[in-house]
Amino acid sequence: METNETIKINTSVKESINKPIRGFIFACSNKTEKECFNRMLFGTDNVYGPVVIRIRKGDLLFLVNMDKDILYGVFEAICDGGFQFVPEAWKGKYPYQVKVRLLSDLITLSHAKRLLSKFGIKRNTPLYGQKLLDFLDLFFPERFLLDGTDKGAILQKKAAIKAGLGNKDIEDEIPLIESTTFWDFPKQSYGLTPKGDNKYPGVTPALIIYNLIWRYTVPGDLVVDPMAGSGTTMDVCKAEKRRCICYDIAPVRPDIIQNDARKIPLEENSVDMVFIDSPYGDNIRYNDHPACIGKISAEDEQFYEELEKVMKECYRILKPGKVLGWLIADQWVKGRFTPVGFKLYERLCKYFEPVDIICVARRGQASHTGVWHNRARRFNFYLRGFKYLIIVKKPEDKEKKNKKARRTKWNYYERKRTKKQAK
Ligand SMILES: C[S@@+](CC[C@H](N)C(=O)[O-])C[C@H]1O[C@@H](n2cnc3c(N)ncnc32)[C@H](O)[C@@H]1O
Repeated sequence: METNETIKINTSVKESINKPIRGFIFACSNKTEKECFNRMLFGTDNVYGPVVIRIRKGDLLFLVNMDKDILYGVFEAICDGGFQFVPEAWKGKYPYQVKVRLLSDLITLSHAKRLLSKFGIKRNTPLYGQKLLDFLDLFFPERFLLDGTDKGAILQKKAAIKAGLGNKDIEDEIPLIESTTFWDFPKQSYGLTPKGDNKYPGVTPALIIYNLIWRYTVPGDLVVDPMAGSGTTMDVCKAEKRRCICYDIAPVRPDIIQNDARKIPLEENSVDMVFIDSPYGDNIRYNDHPACIGKISAEDEQFYEELEKVMKECYRILKPGKVLGWLIADQWVKGRFTPVGFKLYERLCKYFEPVDIICVARRGQASHTGVWHNRARRFNFYLRGFKYLIIVKKPEDKEKKNKKARRTKWNYYERKRTKKQAK
């Protein structure tokens, strides 16, 4: 006969086969610990935002107090991880949050840092399978479970984790955002699902878009890609919980809208970020559409004229203060170098304020073969080794800017002058 308990275990075991239970570590300090417990809420800043939005209801959570070197457990997420459930918590400093409950009595383990390093646990690496079971045993050893009473929830979790043991569908390391201006991504995509189509000519490395949206937008923001190709931007936005509209002159999938980037059908000041990986000239044949800008040579000024029309549209649709990321590369064809990146940057600066320029390593290039490396040395030219990711922003509203500038308020009090000074 099935008892209520076995029915519950069976349901969660079945769920776990499809969606394995993972474990995540949160950190707090002496200052922030109390609020975690009072609110039964864990929070972090944007560095670990990508981790938090991947937490699912039912995942296990652990809290480490870095000042006391103590590990608290075991908690369960009672909702999916998200953004600003309680905006005022920790005075808004930790907006990526998850609501939690204790799985059983609170258990405290000392030497937290040593334990975490022994298990090789990093905050952006989910625990799962046998490692998670072993980690749980630190809190609830088997012996303790047999002796104890009312350990239903823990047994259930352990059974569910065991059921998911064969499931390899787990993101191992959730990428942290880049900290320097040199980005080198060995693969086109990341995570469990493909982002874009790595067979598409000139497909964008997905982590470029990942990095931009985690730096310059928050979950729910609207991102637009006017030249979306195989839809890498769309897929990254979906995975990172941003809204997204993608256009292309010759769409290759139904969620990309057919449109010429020189006239974008969106209202002004309505978009939180634009990403463009435009043609770099006529080096790639994307499609046969007559309005494809990739048919114009980068040696021809017309190429920049057309891209300037795209820039103006990006400027119009972006909200003030918001960012445009534009990926571009220089050209060397038949003995002639064209600094496409600089020429594009010059035009962008007519409308936008510079934010930064990232050097992105070019990988998997068709020309990066032994023969071409040899030719480059012998005939004294260079193979293209990098692209520019130009990051610019639409200037803030003048009014808003002035308000910011006036933040430091100086009060001058006229001193009373003595009769002598007045003379
Ligand atoms: C470098 S590819 C974009 C790659 C894309 N980010 C991806 O990951 O698959 C450049 C794209 O610009 C598109 N394109 C060229 N001219 C265009 C125009 N006038 N309006 C809109 N899209 C255009 C091409 O069709 C091509 O798909």
